[in-house]
Amino acid sequence: MCGIFAYLNYNVGRERRYILEVLLNGLRRLEYRGYDSSGIAIDSDTSSVMQSKSKPYDTAPPVVFRQEGKIESLVSSVYTEVDQLNLDLEKPFLVHAGIAHTRWATHGVPAPRNSHPQSSGEFDEFLVVHNGIITNYEVLKQTLVRHGFTFESDTDTEVIPKLAKFVFDKARDGEGGVTFSQVVMEVMRQLEGAYALIFKSPHYPNELIACKRGSTLLLGVNELGGETSRHLFHDVKALTANDKPKELFFSSDLCAIVEHTKNYAAIEDDEIVHIKDGSVSILKFNYEKEKPASVQRALSVLEMEVEQIKKGDFDHFMKKEIHEQPDSLTTSMRGRLKDGVVGLGGLKDHMRTIRRSRRIIFIGCGTSYHAALAARPIMEELTDIPVTMEIASDMLDRKALIFKEDTAVFVSQSGETADTLLALEYALQHGALCVGVTNTVGSTLARKTHCGVHINAGCEIGVASTKAYTCQIVVMVMMALAIGSDKMSTLAQREAIIAGLTKLPEKVHDVLKLDGEMKALAQSLIEEQSLLMFGRGNNYATALEGALKVKEVALMHSEGMLAGEMKHGPLALVDEYLPIIVIATHDDSFSKQQSVIQQLHARKGRLIVMCSEGDASLVCPDGRSRVIEVPRVVDCLQPIINIIPMQLLAYHLTVLRGYNVDQPRNLAKSVTTQ
Ligand code: F6R
Repeated sequence: MCGIFAYLNYNVGRERRYILEVLLNGLRRLEYRGYDSSGIAIDSDTSSVMQSKSKPYDTAPPVVFRQEGKIESLVSSVYTEVDQLNLDLEKPFLVHAGIAHTRWATHGVPAPRNSHPQSSGEFDEFLVVHNGIITNYEVLKQTLVRHGFTFESDTDTEVIPKLAKFVFDKARDGEGGVTFSQVVMEVMRQLEGAYALIFKSPHYPNELIACKRGSTLLLGVNELGGETSRHLFHDVKALTANDKPKELFFSSDLCAIVEHTKNYAAIEDDEIVHIKDGSVSILKFNYEKEKPASVQRALSVLEMEVEQIKKGDFDHFMKKEIHEQPDSLTTSMRGRLKDGVVGLGGLKDHMRTIRRSRRIIFIGCGTSYHAALAARPIMEELTDIPVTMEIASDMLDRKALIFKEDTAVFVSQSGETADTLLALEYALQHGALCVGVTNTVGSTLARKTHCGVHINAGCEIGVASTKAYTCQIVVMVMMALAIGSDKMSTLAQREAIIAGLTKLPEKVHDVLKLDGEMKALAQSLIEEQSLLMFGRGNNYATALEGALKVKEVALMHSEGMLAGEMKHGPLALVDEYLPIIVIATHDDSFSKQQSVIQQLHARKGRLIVMCSEGDASLVCPDGRSRVIEVPRVVDCLQPIINIIPMQLLAYHLTVLRGYNVDQPRNLAKSVTTQ
């Protein structure tokens, strides 16, 4: 996954230093989406050393900066190069259009030549930043090479600006001119795959074009002036001078926009946004070469606060997000538990169909899959509907059977994970009712499912998912309560769960007090190569998720296992050195976990046991093992409590081992490629 960003100021003077900072700051906000290389393009000016007599346009040429590594290495290289190029940082621009990109490499190693903006070639006639994948780039590349283009990068993206130049040159050689949107429309006709693109060209100074198919693209609008345009874009007639926005932003994510404006529009697939003379036109793409239809789009008001995207008093986003869980869980439940009844507005029109389903299928990847696994037992128990689990990629690999009588629940924090979205397409084709559980309003998952529930965890920036996981579980428990609410036989159980949900934030607050204890545990494990976690029943998911957290951020091998499977193989690994965490909080599986602990003790296992408060002597009668005591809650909510010490352990292990906790090696926040 990558992040794209653009900033256009119109009729409001901005110095070059300010423009650079807006672009670089936009990239800082999007860095979680990819952090192996980055780049920006801004304008030079007539007095600049970049001017060349032979360039094929009269305007100031763009200046492109590309750098390998984190955003901060781009920042220092930009300021060094600005100096070398004699670009005046104080020079004001009444109008200026800049674009920016942060990359998570898919095609080609991280290197400046593979960073974006990618260029059409000499004089940077067309520059493009891209999030997504162009699947037919090889064919396009061969065609362009035959027409004399030479390629410098290994990226799929480079075909796009070159194609734009090809289209532009061809149109220019014919009769009449060609508009920027006509060029982009023709480029889109040739592209296959998924993308959000922003184009900049010195042939169209002070204009920007963005378009999308598949990947997310948002438009932020600042200081509209006129009252009408606060609600609607007029795309046919230009906005009046009063109505013209002063500042416009394109971004892959709202978190790069929120510090500038709260007015935004989510761009739909096959739409082209053309900013020219301060006016915004949204056009609908068509394959035929007809005049594109224009689209009216209402602006939404962003509910996010700037604080959400800042670390505040915390050293890292992961730590902040772990500690935010009492609040994020409260927000997730807000307005949904009234007088002992669960109300999920997003599902109510489909409740009859869900209740009549032949089965419920939970589908997701990574942490989201684990959240669904944690909610599976209660979903089965309260609804009497069989629940099966599918990892999205595996479901597609197997072409798993899915029927129109099924309810398929897709779980995804970002709502943009490629595997999950492809599985969604597959389920839609097979006629299943598709339900989304996501944190991202306006995401592809939210738009393409028939119905769903937002988890409302707030912006999650740390690459390792923490607060989204616990909110996902809470939402799926609430779904189980809502679907099963027609059964009298489970009334008392449902009432107990609702009471448990009400007290949950307070219990989470209590378990967070284990922070210091988890740091000490991390200290004792810092040199280890491997860690095992055993769980079962409601807490099988906790073992898988705890192990995933440790491996992805602390870069330590760790494996979550079903305790029932221990004697069928993993027992061979047990000795006095390998640390093993056994989750043995008090529920239906408790006595079975006690016997697992005994068997591990008999093999001199090095155990760390997580148990309910007051149970230490039951799980560890001889006091030989390390014990983590956690508050006891109703069984189906226990995974929410139990994962928190594991999140803290993963966090402290990472910091103590000296790794980057918010941006783990090789990972990105949402995986938009297969
Ligand atoms: C791990 C993690 C990943 C994601 C997975 C799915 O901490 O974050 O395992 O859970 O990539 O992402 P979403 O939930 O966005 O579909």
